[in-house]
Amino acid sequence: MGNKRKEECRIVSQEELLDGIYSMWLQTEEIAEEALPGQFLSLYSRDGSRILPRPISICEINREKKQIRLVYRVAGKGTEEFSRYHPGISLSVVGPLGNGFPVKEAEGKTVFLMGGGIGIPPLLETAKQIRGDVKVIAGYRDKQFLTEEFARYGGVFVATEDGSVGTKGNVMDVIREKELKADMIMACGPTPMLKAIKAYAEERGIPCYLSLEERMACGIGACLACVCQSKEVDAHSHVHNKRICKDGPVFLSTEVEL
Ligand code: FES
Repeated sequence: MGNKRKEECRIVSQEELLDGIYSMWLQTEEIAEEALPGQFLSLYSRDGSRILPRPISICEINREKKQIRLVYRVAGKGTEEFSRYHPGISLSVVGPLGNGFPVKEAEGKTVFLMGGGIGIPPLLETAKQIRGDVKVIAGYRDKQFLTEEFARYGGVFVATEDGSVGTKGNVMDVIREKELKADMIMACGPTPMLKAIKAYAEERGIPCYLSLEERMACGIGACLACVCQSKEVDAHSHVHNKRICKDGPVFLSTEVEL
């Protein structure tokens, strides 16, 4: 799945989309040409006190300009540091990392792209690349972001926990309320949401790809914080451990235990 590289990437733009959620475009050399939707980059701190990088998923790819967009939430010292940098500053970046979503398999199909919170951004490039009937189902706590951009590539259905926008509840409530149907599902978000989607897909025999990227810490195989249980589909339910950052972050729902 491509060759990862280490590059010094200049920040082209950085803006806060809403409280604590930032959108940053990076100028790459080769990374943008190799990158696939659902893959991620690992960004190194410029402040020498943090040795391990932070993985951030790819939100959009501009191959012509060789740029990559990251939309991330400030969730600790590393991401807080990145959010402070202005255009012109360069960051050390390794990528593209991980396997990504199988967009070609979705050709001609009705596909649900289901995202929760900061799991929503990687679905944008995915939506852009799928040649099929894309239905984006996005779950937010209260305020929405990126929904206008998703509307260019498919139908958009929103759920908010407080009901201030769209369906009150979560992404599963949207499917029930709107009576939506899919041939394939791709999803990214918190584990409880992915669990519900996995159960829904498996009951109906719908192929379902889950990105477990929210559980990653270093992104480069060094910290082992991302180990998950996986079962080989064809063996006699042998249980194996997989590292999400090395073997994923995208897995077929039937391959992993959540
Ligand atoms: Fe550190 Fe996978 S995130 S080993």
